[in-house]
Amino acid sequence: MNDALSPNPTTPPAGAAAPASASVPSTTPANARIIAITSGKGGVGKTFVSANLAAALTRRGHRVLVLDADLGLANLDVVLNLHPKVTLHDVFTGKAQLEDAVIKAPGGFSVLLAGSGMVEYSRLTPEVRNEFLNVIHTLAPRFDVVLLDTGAGISDVVLFSVSLAHEVLIVATPEPTSLTDAYAAIKVLATQQKRQHVRMVVNQAARPGDGRAITGQLQQVLDRFVTTDTGRPMRLIHVGDIPADTSVRDAVMRRQLLMLQMPGCPAALAVAQLANKVESTMLTPSPEGPGANRS
Ligand SMILES: Nc1ncnc2c1ncn2[C@@H]1O[C@H](COP(=O)(O)OP(=O)(O)OP(=O)(O)O)[C@@H](O)[C@H]1O
Ligand SMILES: [Mg+2]
Repeated sequence: MNDALSPNPTTPPAGAAAPASASVPSTTPANARIIAITSGKGGVGKTFVSANLAAALTRRGHRVLVLDADLGLANLDVVLNLHPKVTLHDVFTGKAQLEDAVIKAPGGFSVLLAGSGMVEYSRLTPEVRNEFLNVIHTLAPRFDVVLLDTGAGISDVVLFSVSLAHEVLIVATPEPTSLTDAYAAIKVLATQQKRQHVRMVVNQAARPGDGRAITGQLQQVLDRFVTTDTGRPMRLIHVGDIPADTSVRDAVMRRQLLMLQMPGCPAALAVAQLANKVESTMLTPSPEGPGANRS
């Protein structure tokens, strides 16, 4: 078996919660909790959050896979400084086995990289849909958490990858353009995917408390204009803020993982806190499978 598909060797630190699947008998393949990390506007920090949250959850003892679901403009490989021999592109074209495309990233989690040349897959054809579903169904039982690092916006590929997730984590910055685009994305998730709630992390926050205030403002707009199919307003749940921190850019420039290189910097501490919150609120297993837990 490919090393990246074997259980993560990291021992959870003392006091860390057990993996979400720990109570499931070993004979039953436990399905991962699938979390889509998405945004309305591009460049707000989805890939940064996906990679560093994966490292933080791995430290807490979870088996984590990050799937580069941004098929057209994948760049998780760049951020992690990985040069995969086999990518999702090779799997989609039948040139390689899925097992060989899953590799270990610095930080101990597994990744499935889209690689370059996926541009033709940035349109949602029945083939892309089937390949995607096959990848998720094959890999989900082998992990506790699958993070989907999606593209930005509301294209059909983005919405399809988000539809595979139990939970949606919207990344937004405090900029008005990011917030209006986040609103548009949330509205589509309520109407098209019948979601009752989404969660939000505010990245590049200027001051502590900014994220909660912004989430509250956005909730007020949702209360007025976005009703779910149960007749209740769409709920926006604030899960944390990550401050604007020059160390993030430094880590990206050096192609290193912030959580490994500068674990004590403000942004890394915020990601560790986010992992704590994600673990306590988003990792409860759902018996119905992907996309079902939308209340
Ligand atoms: N908390 C932060 N503080 C400072 N800079 C940040 C922070 N988060 C992200 N950045 C900067 O924003 C850049 C874009 O981040 P990232 O690539 O994660 O965004 P993205 O949402 O994945 O973009 P895309 O929509 O293109 O996929 C990073 O390279 C980094 O320089
Ligand atoms: Mg990205």
